[in-house]
Amino acid sequence: MPVQAKIGPSILNADLSNLAAESQKLLDNGADYLHLDVMDGTFVPNLTFGHPMVKSLRNKIKTAFFETHMMVQNPEQWIEPMADAGVNLYTFHVEPVQDVVRVSRKVQESGMKVGLAIKPGTEVQDLEKYLSIADVVLVMTVEPGFGGQSFMADMMPKVKWLRENYPNLDIEVDGGVGPKTIHCCAEAGANMIVSGTAVVGASDQSQVIKELRDVVHSYLK
Ligand code: DX5
Ligand code: ZN
Repeated sequence: MPVQAKIGPSILNADLSNLAAESQKLLDNGADYLHLDVMDGTFVPNLTFGHPMVKSLRNKIKTAFFETHMMVQNPEQWIEPMADAGVNLYTFHVEPVQDVVRVSRKVQESGMKVGLAIKPGTEVQDLEKYLSIADVVLVMTVEPGFGGQSFMADMMPKVKWLRENYPNLDIEVDGGVGPKTIHCCAEAGANMIVSGTAVVGASDQSQVIKELRDVVHSYLK
């Protein structure tokens, strides 16, 4: 099936004390899914939230598609709790994982889709041996850890390579993506767009989400 344009706002820089309302607002404004940034203070130098918070959010928001972006040292540890919390797509970084295939299988056995993420310093070809098992590949366009950083355009060759070789793969970009950088991502072949500050901080979220989706759509064959 051909890939579709999907916009997944990152709630990292939203008012986390008001997460359910902030998330619902993004969905009402046209978000296709929610990108939930989980950080453990070890894999990245920052700390956010874990499965109890995701489960509470799921209790308030029953049907939306949830992706957790696991910026954690031991993603295997959180598979079951996140599946139980109602996560749909479990995206983890391959860098600290010894047996990516085994962890991916566990994710799928627990009923979630598998996303494989790479940091800017990781070669995209390192993922090739796992692409038959991955549902999504996430190419980071900033160093993971913080919202509001500048987009790294030099990551686009990774996206291009993936799109050229895997026309039906869901390719996600994350970090510094907004109306100014979306053309670059869409042209390279990204179809799943994470956008934090550019969407959450917008005075008209629905307009920005629509703009991002329209640009991606215009490049999809
Ligand atoms: C960074 C996170 C991103 C971040 C995106 O480590 O993975 O999801 O929140 O935020 P912006 O779009 O502001 O860079
Ligand atoms: Zn993220």
